Amino acid sequence: MKVERGLFFVVSSLFFLFVLNFTSIALEQNKFDVIKLSKPELKAGKLLMQALQDRKSSRDFSSKELSDTILSNLLWAGFGINRKDGKHTAPTAVNAQNIAIYVANKNGVYRYDSEKLLLSPFLKKDIRKEIGYQDFLHVAPIVLIYVADLSSMARINKDERMFYSAANTGYVSQNIYLYCASENLATVAVGWVKRDAVSKLLKLDKKQKVMLIQPVGYPVKH
Ligand SMILES: Cc1cc2nc3c(=O)[nH]c(=O)nc-3n(C[C@H](O)[C@H](O)[C@H](O)COP(=O)(O)O)c2cc1C
Repeated sequence: MKVERGLFFVVSSLFFLFVLNFTSIALEQNKFDVIKLSKPELKAGKLLMQALQDRKSSRDFSSKELSDTILSNLLWAGFGINRKDGKHTAPTAVNAQNIAIYVANKNGVYRYDSEKLLLSPFLKKDIRKEIGYQDFLHVAPIVLIYVADLSSMARINKDERMFYSAANTGYVSQNIYLYCASENLATVAVGWVKRDAVSKLLKLDKKQKVMLIQPVGYPVKH
Protein backbone atom coordinates (compact mmCIF):
# COMPACT_ATOMS: atom_id res chain seq x y z
CA MET A 1 0.00 0.00 0.00
CA LYS A 2 2.83 2.35 0.98
CA VAL A 3 4.62 1.62 -2.33
CA GLU A 4 1.44 2.37 -4.31
CA ARG A 5 0.94 5.66 -2.47
CA GLY A 6 4.57 6.62 -3.12
CA LEU A 7 4.21 5.77 -6.79
CA PHE A 8 1.01 7.80 -6.99
CA PHE A 9 2.79 10.76 -5.36
CA VAL A 10 5.72 10.58 -7.82
CA VAL A 11 3.48 10.27 -10.90
CA SER A 12 1.14 13.09 -9.84
CA SER A 13 4.12 15.35 -9.02
CA LEU A 14 5.63 14.70 -12.44
CA PHE A 15 2.28 15.43 -14.08
CA PHE A 16 1.97 18.68 -12.09
CA LEU A 17 5.48 19.77 -13.12
CA PHE A 18 4.71 18.93 -16.76
CA VAL A 19 1.52 21.04 -16.71
CA LEU A 20 3.33 23.91 -14.96
CA ASN A 21 6.14 23.87 -17.51
CA PHE A 22 3.72 23.70 -20.43
CA THR A 23 1.70 26.62 -19.04
CA SER A 24 4.77 28.78 -18.51
CA ILE A 25 5.95 28.08 -22.08
CA ALA A 26 2.50 29.08 -23.38
CA LEU A 27 2.56 32.26 -21.26
CA GLU A 28 6.10 33.04 -22.40
CA GLN A 29 5.03 32.81 -26.05
CA ASN A 30 2.12 35.20 -25.53
CA LYS A 31 3.78 37.69 -23.23
CA PHE A 32 3.59 41.37 -24.05
CA ASP A 33 6.22 43.04 -21.90
CA VAL A 34 8.95 45.60 -22.41
CA ILE A 35 11.68 44.06 -24.57
CA LYS A 36 15.14 45.13 -23.48
CA LEU A 37 17.48 45.52 -26.42
CA SER A 38 21.21 44.94 -26.36
CA LYS A 39 23.89 47.39 -27.45
CA PRO A 40 24.73 47.06 -31.15
CA GLU A 41 27.41 44.61 -32.20
CA LEU A 42 29.59 47.04 -34.12
CA LYS A 43 31.83 44.35 -35.54
CA ALA A 44 29.04 42.11 -36.84
CA GLY A 45 28.08 41.67 -40.47
CA LYS A 46 29.65 42.09 -43.85
CA LEU A 47 31.85 44.87 -45.15
CA LEU A 48 29.80 47.79 -46.43
CA MET A 49 30.67 47.18 -50.09
CA GLN A 50 29.59 43.54 -49.83
CA ALA A 51 26.32 44.56 -48.12
CA LEU A 52 25.67 47.00 -50.95
CA GLN A 53 26.38 44.24 -53.45
CA ASP A 54 23.81 41.99 -51.67
CA ARG A 55 21.09 44.62 -51.06
CA LYS A 56 17.80 43.64 -52.65
CA SER A 57 14.05 43.42 -52.04
CA SER A 58 12.81 39.95 -51.07
CA ARG A 59 9.22 38.91 -50.55
CA ASP A 60 9.68 35.24 -49.56
CA PHE A 61 9.76 35.15 -45.78
CA SER A 62 10.06 32.32 -43.30
CA SER A 63 8.04 32.87 -40.10
CA LYS A 64 11.10 31.97 -37.99
CA GLU A 65 11.55 34.51 -35.17
CA LEU A 66 14.52 36.88 -35.11
CA SER A 67 16.81 36.55 -32.11
CA ASP A 68 16.91 39.44 -29.61
CA THR A 69 20.46 40.25 -30.73
CA ILE A 70 19.50 40.46 -34.40
CA LEU A 71 16.44 42.57 -33.50
CA SER A 72 18.60 44.92 -31.41
CA ASN A 73 21.20 45.31 -34.15
CA LEU A 74 18.53 45.77 -36.82
CA LEU A 75 16.76 48.61 -35.00
CA TRP A 76 20.01 50.31 -34.10
CA ALA A 77 21.12 50.12 -37.73
CA GLY A 78 17.77 51.60 -38.78
CA PHE A 79 17.57 54.59 -36.46
CA GLY A 80 19.67 53.97 -33.36
CA ILE A 81 21.69 56.61 -31.55
CA ASN A 82 25.28 56.57 -32.80
CA ARG A 83 26.74 59.69 -31.15
CA LYS A 84 26.98 61.26 -27.71
CA ASP A 85 24.82 64.19 -28.81
CA GLY A 86 21.88 61.81 -29.35
CA LYS A 87 21.87 61.90 -33.14
CA HIS A 88 21.00 58.81 -35.15
CA THR A 89 22.32 56.40 -37.77
CA ALA A 90 20.08 58.10 -40.37
CA PRO A 91 20.14 61.83 -41.16
CA THR A 92 17.05 64.03 -40.79
CA ALA A 93 16.30 67.38 -42.42
CA VAL A 94 16.76 70.33 -39.99
CA ASN A 95 17.75 67.69 -37.43
CA ALA A 96 14.04 66.97 -36.87
CA GLN A 97 14.72 63.38 -35.68
CA ASN A 98 11.06 62.84 -36.48
CA ILE A 99 10.83 59.20 -37.53
CA ALA A 100 9.32 56.73 -35.06
CA ILE A 101 9.67 53.01 -35.64
CA TYR A 102 6.88 50.72 -34.48
CA VAL A 103 7.48 46.97 -34.51
CA ALA A 104 4.48 44.72 -35.19
CA ASN A 105 4.75 41.03 -34.35
CA LYS A 106 2.43 38.18 -33.35
CA ASN A 107 2.07 39.58 -29.81
CA GLY A 108 1.28 43.17 -30.71
CA VAL A 109 2.92 46.47 -31.56
CA TYR A 110 5.92 47.96 -29.77
CA ARG A 111 7.53 51.37 -30.10
CA TYR A 112 11.30 51.54 -30.49
CA ASP A 113 12.97 53.68 -27.83
CA SER A 114 16.45 54.37 -29.19
CA GLU A 115 17.52 56.27 -26.05
CA LYS A 116 16.60 53.61 -23.52
CA LEU A 117 17.38 50.74 -25.91
CA LEU A 118 14.05 49.01 -25.52
CA LEU A 119 10.79 48.20 -27.22
CA SER A 120 7.82 49.60 -25.29
CA PRO A 121 4.54 47.69 -25.54
CA PHE A 122 2.11 49.90 -27.45
CA LEU A 123 -0.86 47.84 -28.63
CA LYS A 124 -1.65 44.26 -27.64
CA LYS A 125 -2.92 43.06 -30.99
CA ASP A 126 -1.41 41.32 -34.01
CA ILE A 127 -2.13 43.91 -36.70
CA ARG A 128 0.02 42.42 -39.47
CA LYS A 129 -3.00 41.24 -41.47
CA GLU A 130 -4.68 44.65 -41.29
CA ILE A 131 -2.01 47.04 -42.48
CA GLY A 132 -1.29 46.13 -46.08
CA TYR A 133 -2.39 44.25 -49.15
CA GLN A 134 0.41 41.75 -49.72
CA ASP A 135 0.35 38.30 -48.10
CA PHE A 136 4.01 38.22 -47.14
CA LEU A 137 3.18 40.78 -44.43
CA HIS A 138 1.40 37.99 -42.51
CA VAL A 139 4.37 35.65 -42.71
CA ALA A 140 7.40 37.76 -41.74
CA PRO A 141 7.97 37.65 -37.95
CA ILE A 142 8.14 41.44 -37.73
CA VAL A 143 6.86 44.37 -39.74
CA LEU A 144 8.45 47.77 -39.11
CA ILE A 145 6.11 50.74 -39.40
CA TYR A 146 7.69 54.14 -40.01
CA VAL A 147 5.71 57.11 -38.73
CA ALA A 148 6.83 60.70 -39.33
CA ASP A 149 5.88 63.43 -36.90
CA LEU A 150 5.33 66.61 -38.89
CA SER A 151 4.91 68.68 -35.74
CA SER A 152 8.67 68.62 -35.19
CA MET A 153 9.29 70.28 -38.56
CA ALA A 154 8.13 73.77 -37.63
CA ARG A 155 11.18 75.30 -39.32
CA ILE A 156 10.23 73.77 -42.66
CA ASN A 157 7.63 75.25 -44.98
CA LYS A 158 4.29 73.41 -44.51
CA ASP A 159 4.17 72.19 -48.12
CA GLU A 160 7.62 70.66 -47.86
CA ARG A 161 7.20 68.74 -44.60
CA MET A 162 6.02 65.54 -46.26
CA PHE A 163 8.80 65.75 -48.84
CA TYR A 164 11.48 65.93 -46.13
CA SER A 165 9.76 63.30 -44.01
CA ALA A 166 9.72 60.94 -47.00
CA ALA A 167 13.43 61.54 -47.51
CA ASN A 168 14.11 60.95 -43.79
CA THR A 169 12.15 57.70 -43.93
CA GLY A 170 14.05 56.57 -47.00
CA TYR A 171 17.36 56.76 -45.14
CA VAL A 172 16.01 54.66 -42.26
CA SER A 173 14.58 52.12 -44.68
CA GLN A 174 17.87 51.89 -46.59
CA ASN A 175 19.75 51.34 -43.30
CA ILE A 176 17.40 48.44 -42.64
CA TYR A 177 17.97 47.11 -46.17
CA LEU A 178 21.74 47.23 -45.67
CA TYR A 179 21.64 45.54 -42.27
CA CYS A 180 19.43 42.81 -43.77
CA ALA A 181 21.84 42.36 -46.68
CA SER A 182 24.68 42.18 -44.19
CA GLU A 183 22.97 39.39 -42.17
CA ASN A 184 21.31 37.55 -45.10
CA LEU A 185 17.83 38.58 -43.92
CA ALA A 186 14.89 39.22 -46.23
CA THR A 187 13.20 42.62 -46.40
CA VAL A 188 11.25 44.91 -48.71
CA ALA A 189 10.11 48.52 -48.37
CA VAL A 190 6.33 48.66 -48.75
CA GLY A 191 4.53 51.83 -49.75
CA TRP A 192 1.26 50.08 -50.61
CA VAL A 193 -0.06 50.49 -47.08
CA LYS A 194 -3.54 50.83 -45.56
CA ARG A 195 -2.57 54.17 -44.08
CA ASP A 196 -5.94 55.03 -42.56
CA ALA A 197 -6.19 51.62 -40.93
CA VAL A 198 -2.70 51.93 -39.45
CA SER A 199 -3.41 55.47 -38.21
CA LYS A 200 -6.59 54.25 -36.50
CA LEU A 201 -4.95 51.18 -34.98
CA LEU A 202 -2.03 53.21 -33.61
CA LYS A 203 -4.32 56.11 -32.65
CA LEU A 204 -2.08 58.60 -34.48
CA ASP A 205 -2.91 62.28 -34.56
CA LYS A 206 -3.18 64.33 -37.77
CA LYS A 207 0.47 65.33 -37.74
CA GLN A 208 1.72 61.76 -37.44
CA LYS A 209 1.97 60.29 -40.92
CA VAL A 210 2.36 56.62 -41.80
CA MET A 211 5.18 56.62 -44.34
CA LEU A 212 6.32 53.09 -45.21
CA ILE A 213 6.19 49.66 -43.67
CA GLN A 214 8.98 47.10 -43.94
CA PRO A 215 8.76 43.40 -43.05
CA VAL A 216 11.96 41.69 -41.94
CA GLY A 217 12.63 37.99 -41.52
CA TYR A 218 14.71 35.08 -42.66
CA PRO A 219 14.42 34.14 -46.28
CA VAL A 220 12.43 30.96 -46.89
CA LYS A 221 15.51 28.88 -47.70
CA HIS A 222 17.57 29.71 -44.60
C1 LIG B 1 9.26 53.88 -51.55
C2 LIG B 1 9.16 52.43 -51.99
C3 LIG B 1 7.94 51.81 -51.95
C4 LIG B 1 7.81 50.45 -52.29
N1 LIG B 1 6.62 49.82 -52.17
C5 LIG B 1 6.52 48.50 -52.42
C6 LIG B 1 5.30 47.82 -52.16
O1 LIG B 1 4.30 48.39 -51.74
N2 LIG B 1 5.27 46.49 -52.39
C7 LIG B 1 6.36 45.80 -52.85
O2 LIG B 1 6.26 44.57 -53.02
N3 LIG B 1 7.53 46.40 -53.09
C8 LIG B 1 7.65 47.75 -52.87
N4 LIG B 1 8.85 48.37 -53.06
C9 LIG B 1 10.03 47.61 -53.50
C10 LIG B 1 10.34 47.89 -54.98
O3 LIG B 1 9.40 47.20 -55.78
C11 LIG B 1 11.77 47.42 -55.27
O4 LIG B 1 12.67 48.22 -54.56
C12 LIG B 1 12.08 47.49 -56.76
O5 LIG B 1 11.36 46.51 -57.47
C13 LIG B 1 13.57 47.29 -57.04
O6 LIG B 1 14.01 46.06 -56.53
P1 LIG B 1 15.23 45.99 -55.50
O7 LIG B 1 14.83 46.68 -54.23
O8 LIG B 1 15.47 44.51 -55.29
O9 LIG B 1 16.38 46.67 -56.14
C14 LIG B 1 8.97 49.73 -52.74
C15 LIG B 1 10.20 50.40 -52.80
C16 LIG B 1 10.30 51.71 -52.42
C17 LIG B 1 11.66 52.39 -52.46
